[in-house]
Amino acid sequence: MKKYKNIDIDLKDRSYRIVINDNIQETLFGVLSEIISRPKVFIVTDENVAGFVLPAIRKILDDEKIETQVIILPPGEKSKSFAQLEGLIEELLNLKIERQDTLIALGGGVIGDLVGFTASIIFRGIDFIQIPTTLLSQVDSSVGGKTAINMANGKNLVGAFYQPKAVIADVSLLVTLPHREIVSGYAEVIKYAVLGNKKFFKWLKHNQQGILKLNTDLLVKAVSTSCEMKARIVEKDESEKGSRALLNLGHTFGHAIENKLNNDGPGILHGEAVGFGMCLSAQLSNQMNLCTTSEVNEIINLIKDAGISTNISELNYNLEANEIISILSRDKKRKDNKSTLILLNGIGEAFIKDGVDDNTIKEFLLSVGFN
Ligand SMILES: NC(=O)c1ccc[n+]([C@@H]2O[C@H](COP(=O)([O-])OP(=O)(O)OC[C@H]3O[C@@H](n4cnc5c(N)ncnc54)[C@H](O)[C@@H]3O)[C@@H](O)[C@H]2O)c1
Repeated sequence: MKKYKNIDIDLKDRSYRIVINDNIQETLFGVLSEIISRPKVFIVTDENVAGFVLPAIRKILDDEKIETQVIILPPGEKSKSFAQLEGLIEELLNLKIERQDTLIALGGGVIGDLVGFTASIIFRGIDFIQIPTTLLSQVDSSVGGKTAINMANGKNLVGAFYQPKAVIADVSLLVTLPHREIVSGYAEVIKYAVLGNKKFFKWLKHNQQGILKLNTDLLVKAVSTSCEMKARIVEKDESEKGSRALLNLGHTFGHAIENKLNNDGPGILHGEAVGFGMCLSAQLSNQMNLCTTSEVNEIINLIKDAGISTNISELNYNLEANEIISILSRDKKRKDNKSTLILLNGIGEAFIKDGVDDNTIKEFLLSVGFN
């Protein structure tokens, strides 16, 4: 049965299509040739994806007589660096890339963010296509045009809004992804439900285990509902001047926790930190009398059942409220020394709360077990 879902994202001359399917052969065949301006592409991927996914993609492109050059980078967050950006651009120039060529980001959010940023600056901008291979990148990072690298001062501090020419999200590419990475990406799926879609939240409650076991019908629905929601939000506010910030639900706390645990702690994946951060946002909303206790428990239980830590005691790390506040004070979304948080009036009813002062946050963090 054909499961193809096409979602068009309308951004005037930067509009593009997100193609979602469960058979990469069927998905890619004919689609790429329609998008690229000549039959030559530069695929950038990481070592893991090169082993698991690249051979199938290359074969399809060979069959379609599309010439490919491949650059393989080390996996992991460290590849989102200035040094790696410079090295990648040098390599592309050595391979004689030209303005009419297309870059393909084949991988997770790390490759997507780095390649997108590279595409935005090489020759002042060339075409690029996202072929996301993690659940996180299929439901989130490949859509919406945020590209970035990290600096010593923090994650994603240098980058550009630069939209791809297409996103090709095929869930069959997820079969080799470690389960922990599936769960991490799934946290972003829960995020869409919690921020703006109660019906989807109920559907996730019934279908969560099937999604996590990679049932393809359920995955196609989870990915397409998530992408549809992100597309509509990005259409309204492409450069995050307002409502796009809703997509940061769980991220302000999540980034602070990621920063601590990944710099000198046991480590945490992005989605795991976002899941934990969503629990904090829900609990803070409850303390502010915005969201009922039973809805907060529903959110926490869903996240917990997915296999994500929801309580500070499970993180096995001494997290100090003052350290979190100090990290929040460097957040790029901070205004007038106060934090902007995404809070909840209920499941599916997120809103942007500006001007949350440090004392309120500190008292809250102490109340939920931070030291
Ligand atoms: N641009 C955005 O809007 C946006 C949104 C959310 C997250 N992000 C960024 O995304 C990054 C996280 O992305 P991620 O979670 O995809 O991490 P990732 O790119 O590091 O991939 C996770 C791991 O899975 C491996 N992998 C990827 N596909 C695989 C496959 N099919 N089979 C086996 N292994 C595979 C990778 O090699 C890597 O080791 C972070 O840098 C984050 O800042 C960006």
